[in-house]
Formats: sequence, C-alpha cells, structure tokens
Amino acid sequence: MKFFADTAEIEPIKELAATGLLDGVTTNPSLIHKSGRDFMEVTKEICGIVDGPVSAEVVALDHETMMKEAEVLRKIADNVCIKVPLTIDGLKTCKALTDDGTMVNVTLCFSANQALLAAKAGATFVSPFVGRHDDNGFDGMDLIRDIRLIYDNYLYDTEILVASVRHTTHVLESAKIGADVMTAPPKVIMALVNHVLTDKGIEGFLKDWKATGQSII
Ligand code: G3P
Repeated sequence: MKFFADTAEIEPIKELAATGLLDGVTTNPSLIHKSGRDFMEVTKEICGIVDGPVSAEVVALDHETMMKEAEVLRKIADNVCIKVPLTIDGLKTCKALTDDGTMVNVTLCFSANQALLAAKAGATFVSPFVGRHDDNGFDGMDLIRDIRLIYDNYLYDTEILVASVRHTTHVLESAKIGADVMTAPPKVIMALVNHVLTDKGIEGFLKDWKATGQSII
C-alpha cells in the first residue's frame, strides 16, 4: 500500500520522506491556505522532496479553464498530478489530461458510481473521502469496499486513493480491503508506529542491558 502525506507543510513532509515511508503527497486549496504559502512555490518545493506523485488541485469549474490551470500546474515538475473535482467538467479534463500522459487524481468522490466514472475517464487515482463520509452518517469503508469490487470486476487500472483519513483504523481497514493508496495527515502516519507493548519492551530490554554493564560502541 502506498502512503501519501495529506499536507502542504514542508517540515513533516521532509521528516516522513527521511523514513522511506512516503510515496507521494496530496494537497488541496484548504491545505494550501493553511500553509500560508504561495501555491506554485510550495508545490515546487514539495515536488523536489518526494519522487512520487504530488497532487495539485485546479480551482476552475469549467473544462476550458481547468485545462488552462492544469497547463500551468503540470509545468511545475514532472511528478505533479493534476487534481480535478468529480464533476462532468472534471471528468472531461481528466480524460484530456490522461490521454496526454499526465497523471490525474479525481477528488471529492462520495459514491461508487462516481468512482466508476473516474475510472472510465482514465483517472490515475480516484479519491474517496472516508472521513467526510463517516461524518455524514455513512460508512466510509463500505465505499472503499464497493469501489474495490467494481474496479476488480472490470480490471480498471485507476488506483483507489483513500482520502480524508482521520485515524489509524481508517488505514488498517483500507489496507485490509486492498486500497492502493491512502493519504493521511502526517500525524496519522506517524501514529501507525505506536504500540504500548513496543514501548514496554524497549524499556525492559534497556533496563536489562544496563545491568550487564556492557556497551556496543
Ligand atoms: O485528502 C482530502 C483531505 O484533505 C480532506 O480531509 O479531514 O478535511 O475531510 P478532511
């Protein structure tokens, strides 16, 4: 399973990249706003830190302007992945860009039918938002299960990129279902390492090691 960081903050991206766990980054207009940085500048910086796809989102609502924005964004770096909303204009833009060899992430997916459309439009990634799905009284994981089933039925290449991940259980469930990618805030990715028995184990080993009076270096 690929791990993307859902952030536009440079320091956590660098920290995660150094662990070797990071396969890409996703941003959106809200995350750019939160970072307080210039969109083009911060996207370029992120693209220089990670080799994998870095999603940068268009903000236009019509196909023609989306294409113009995508043209600007894809010049930032070779690993930019253009993010488009799951609308008819977004799907049209997705088709045009992927036909041209550009990676596209179709975002704001809330139904399996929408995911089917994204695959038919040739999307590189589809982003179902599990956290927001849960917030609205649905089960985000049911959505991932349905999309996995449909994509496997027709052998679609579009990768399921689980988004709006809020906690480590979302990651675990997504991996069990067989989602291709998950994108999460860095603190959720870091929290995957936590286990009380690991901490207790280290404490016990160190106590016994100290009692030996030895040192390795
Ligand atoms: O990847 C999409 C994500 O940024 C949205 O997350 O927590 O705002 O629903 P959230």
